[in-house]
This record gives sequence, structure tokens and C-alpha cells, in this order.
Amino acid sequence: MADYIPDDKLEEIKDRVSIVEVISDYVSLKKAGKNYKGLCPFHSEKTPSFMVNEEKQIFHCFGCNTGGNVFNFLMKMDRLSFPEAARGLARRYGIDLPKIKISEADKRETLKREWLFELNELAASYYHNLLINEKEGKEAREYLRQRGIGNDVIIDHRLGYAQNSWDGLLKFLSKKGASLSRVSEVGLIIPKKAQGFYDRFRGRMIFPIINIHGKVIGFGGRVLDNSLPKYLNSPESSIYNKSNSLYGLKVAKDFIRSEDKVIVVEGYFDLLSLNQYGIKNVAATLGTSLTTGHIRILRRYTNNIITVFDADEAGKKAAARSLDVLLKHGTSPKIAVLPSGFDPDSFVRKVGEKGFKEIIAGSIPLIEFAINEVIKKHDISSVEGKVKIIEDVTPILSMIENKIERDIYIQRVSNRLGIKEDTIVSQFRKTKKTGGILQEKGIQSMDEDIVEKLLLKLMLLSNEVVHKIQEEAIIEEFVNKQYKEIGLLLLEEFNRQGRIDSGRVINCLEDESSKSLISQLSIEKESIEDVQKILKDCINKIRMHKVDEEIKILDIKIKEAEDKKDEVLQREFLVSRQELKNKQINYRQAFSRHNNA
Ligand code: UTP
Ligand code: MN
Repeated sequence: MADYIPDDKLEEIKDRVSIVEVISDYVSLKKAGKNYKGLCPFHSEKTPSFMVNEEKQIFHCFGCNTGGNVFNFLMKMDRLSFPEAARGLARRYGIDLPKIKISEADKRETLKREWLFELNELAASYYHNLLINEKEGKEAREYLRQRGIGNDVIIDHRLGYAQNSWDGLLKFLSKKGASLSRVSEVGLIIPKKAQGFYDRFRGRMIFPIINIHGKVIGFGGRVLDNSLPKYLNSPESSIYNKSNSLYGLKVAKDFIRSEDKVIVVEGYFDLLSLNQYGIKNVAATLGTSLTTGHIRILRRYTNNIITVFDADEAGKKAAARSLDVLLKHGTSPKIAVLPSGFDPDSFVRKVGEKGFKEIIAGSIPLIEFAINEVIKKHDISSVEGKVKIIEDVTPILSMIENKIERDIYIQRVSNRLGIKEDTIVSQFRKTKKTGGILQEKGIQSMDEDIVEKLLLKLMLLSNEVVHKIQEEAIIEEFVNKQYKEIGLLLLEEFNRQGRIDSGRVINCLEDESSKSLISQLSIEKESIEDVQKILKDCINKIRMHKVDEEIKILDIKIKEAEDKKDEVLQREFLVSRQELKNKQINYRQAFSRHNNA
């Protein structure tokens, strides 16, 4: 979209705009050192962790990790598209933009989106009609009856059926005069290798995914038997973004508001079954864990989010994954745990509405759940077990922003372990202090991930560092794909502009977490004393890691050669291994040399 506004104009906007001025319209900012500080508009908090840096033209919230440049701020705050945000700023600062071109492109885009919605709408009616009226839908009707889904729910959610044919929908839409390339853009039909198209959904139950305005943005389709894949879903398109969409929200939103509570499940049938039992304040994430986007949407209706998981391992993993996201948003997330082997669908069918509501009533804060999981993992009666528990529990505790709440949990943990609160508090302080990127333990013992992140931070700090990093071609050796991509982008920016402008780089990045990482690394205050030494250590550490990996691979090869009794090959590998070992020793020594210096 950015190409609708010429680059030089974007630069002009950026040069003229004051991010502090713009954000001050929404947030009351106070000067704090190099930065301005205020209460974050994107999550609820009582102590300011929202920072704005005028010099770098960047904002970042250390509470919810939202960050970016002035465009991103307006896009998030006022729910604008990029060109809308840019145009607004241009107007405000009196910069002329080629207006006609923009609005036409915009019009085309809007028109196209309306077309796509319309196609989905037609398809939804087609599938729905097949399910409820036609003889082809008989098997699917029978299937729903078996699974206990009644007519009201079928109609509320506009469920449908795609007949088992390669061109049922294709013919229907062709007759309506639809553009087939558009139909394939929303993924309802798929282009054949040679020419022509075929239906994506065949012989499946259809679940239209409907947004809060009642528009059909995508579909899910389930087989009626045990064949695979069990579910097919529409691909993402300009009108469907999985991590920002929740299934069933249109039906649920009023109930979520009136009950001030939302139950989040993972599957289509979980939601439908709960609805069938009269539990309507439900939304489904469609197989993914909760994302920031989901939460932002749900928080328009309530702050009480309850996720329901099966007690098995997958459930716990999912819970751990959403912990971060949920806490960062200052929501008071809870988790309801079902007996192992059940999902919300099978459970509500077994115990009914009342039984299910009891499980919901017994939901516990996600934090408490996470702490319990840690305690369960170790032997609480032994000293070693207690040490491990404290170690694992402190990072969880440090995610709690509210101090009173945190103290309560510290107290609880200390009671359960029979350990003085002070012990936990001091451990907690230690992790807090070392929570930044530069830890006391030294680079040699850091995880590769942290070292790579640290290198990115150094790149944002000085041009000299960037030169050195380029010279050593170290970014190419990054293990973490995201960091590597960002690193390469920073180099590109440096080579083009002669310096790194974080705001510009953020514009080039698509995903939220990368944007947030850059704004965090640019604003985070941390005095790095000996940049050169740290830089050397980081590079050394990454090289060392690579050698470690190479040795591991050689060890496997040596074992294979040994099994095959290939002595020549084995000797060859052993020689290479020795060379690598020597390299390793050199790297180690390089560390201690300048660490002692
Ligand atoms: P589940 O496998 O738990 O399915 O996946 P389910 O919802 O319980 O389905 P039933 O009860 O067997 O009919 C949970 C969700 O993950 C997504 C779907 O959104 C599903 O509802 N999923 C699952 C897929 O997208 N594709 C798959 O192949 C499986
Ligand atoms: Mn199920």
C-alpha cells in the first residue's frame, strides 16, 4: 500500500512530524531523561511504561510491548490503514500529496474488498441452502444431528455443506457471473495445473467465519468421517487474517458484553456445542493460541477472558504460550481446565450446561495455573526441587505488573514451599536487575538467542559496530530466523542511507513482533560500557556455537563410519574433529583474554 504515497513524500512527512506532538493528542507525556513517558493507551496500567523518543521518532510500551513509529501509532490508535495515517499527518503538517491517485487506488481497493465479501456471501448462502434444503445435504444433516447440533445453532452460524463434487460452487458462481480469479483470491476455488479451477471444499460441513459486521471473511470445512485432513480452512486474503479473527464473535458479542465474560475455545464444534447448551458468550481461535490481535478485539467487550483447555500436554503448552500475551495486556486472564481427554464439546455433552458452568466458575488465574504447573514438575519436598521451583517461578512472577498482586503470589509460593518470602523476593530482584539484555553472567554463558538480540541492539547504537558486523558477515550465521531477517534489513538500510533510522526500518517490517523488537531495542535504556569488547564477545560466541554444532554433526558421522567399519573415513573425520576442537579452544581463550584484560 505504501507505494500509493511516493517515498520522498513519506520522508518529508517523517522529517516534519514530531512524534511527541502527535502522541500528546492522546496521551499525557512527561519528560523523563531522553524520553517522554506516559500511561500506555494500548493496555490498562497505573504506572507509566509507555515511552516516546523524539530523536529516534519511536514509541514503545514496556508493559504490553507495543511499539513502532508515528505511523504505527496512529494506525493502532485510530485503526487506520498506512496511507490513511500518512495522509492525516500530511494534512496536519501542510504537506501536499498527490491526492487523486491515492483516493482512486483506495477506491479500487475498497471496491475489490466489497467484491470479495460479496463472493463469500454468495458461497455461504449456496452452502447453507445445500445443507438445509437439498437432498445432497442429507448426510451432513444427519452428521450434525449425531453431534447434537440443532436448527437454531445451524441458522445462527449459517452452517453449510459443500457437496462432494469438483465444481459445485464453481458452476454456481460462474452462473452468477462471478470473476473466477477473484473467487480464487478468497480461496474458494483453486487453479488447476493446466487451466481452469476446482472447488476447494468438497464433501465437507461448512463453517462460515463471520466478522462482527456480519461479513463472511472465510470458511472452515470438516469431513464427515475420519479422513484427513479433518479440517480445511480458507487461506488468508485481503479480507481474512487468521490471527485477528475469532470464530462466532458476531453471535457472541452481545452475550459477552452482558455477561462481562468471554469463554475462549479452540474449535468450531466446541463453540457450536456450547451454544447448543445455551452458553453463548463463546469465541473460538480456530486452532491457534490466543494472539495479541484476538485480545485487542475481545477487550472491546470484556476484560474477563477465560480460556478452556484439556488437561493434557497440548493444553498446557497452549496455556504457556498465551500467558505472555495475556499478561502483557493487563487482562485478568483465567484458565478452566477440563478433565484429560475432553474438549469443551465432548465435556458439555457429558455434563450439560450446569456442569460446564461449574468448570468455568472454578477457573483460576492463568498465573496461578502456571505456578502450579511449575510446582508439579519438581519435587517440592527436596531442597533441589525447591531451588528449581524458585528458579522457574520467578520469571512468571516478574510478568505480573501489579505489585500488590505480585506480592500476593510471592506470599503464596513461599507458604507452599515453606520458604521465607525474602528468599523469593531477593531471587526476584536478581532476575529483575538482570532482566535486560546484558546479564551479569557474561556473554560466554548466554543463549545464542540473547547474543543475537544483543548484536542487533549494538547495531542500533553505533555506525562503527555496523561496519564491524558487516565485515565479519556475522548476521548470516544467526540461528534465529527473525533476528537474522532484521539484521540483514538493518545492514541494507545502513548501506543505503549511511546510517540506521529505526523508524524507516519499522516501516519495512510486516510483523508486529519484529516492529516491537526494534522499538524496544532502540528505546530501552541500558548503558553499554565497553561496546567493542561486547561486540567481540558476541561474535566470538556465535562462531563458537557454530563450531559446537559442527562437532556434534561430526560425532554422528564418526559413529556411522565406525558402524560401517570404514577406518579411513573415520580417521579423516577424527582429524577434522581435532581441528574443530582446536578452534574451539582458541575461541574460549579469546574470551578469557579480553575478559581478563
Ligand atoms: P481439533 O482437532 O481439536 O478439532 O482442532 P475439534 O474442533 O475438536 O473438531 P472435532 O470435534 O473433531 O470435529 C481444533 C481446531 O483446530 C483447527 C480447527 O479450527 C479445529 O476446530 N484445525 C484442526 C484445523 O484447522 N485443521 C485440522 O486439520 C485440525
Ligand atoms: Mn472436538
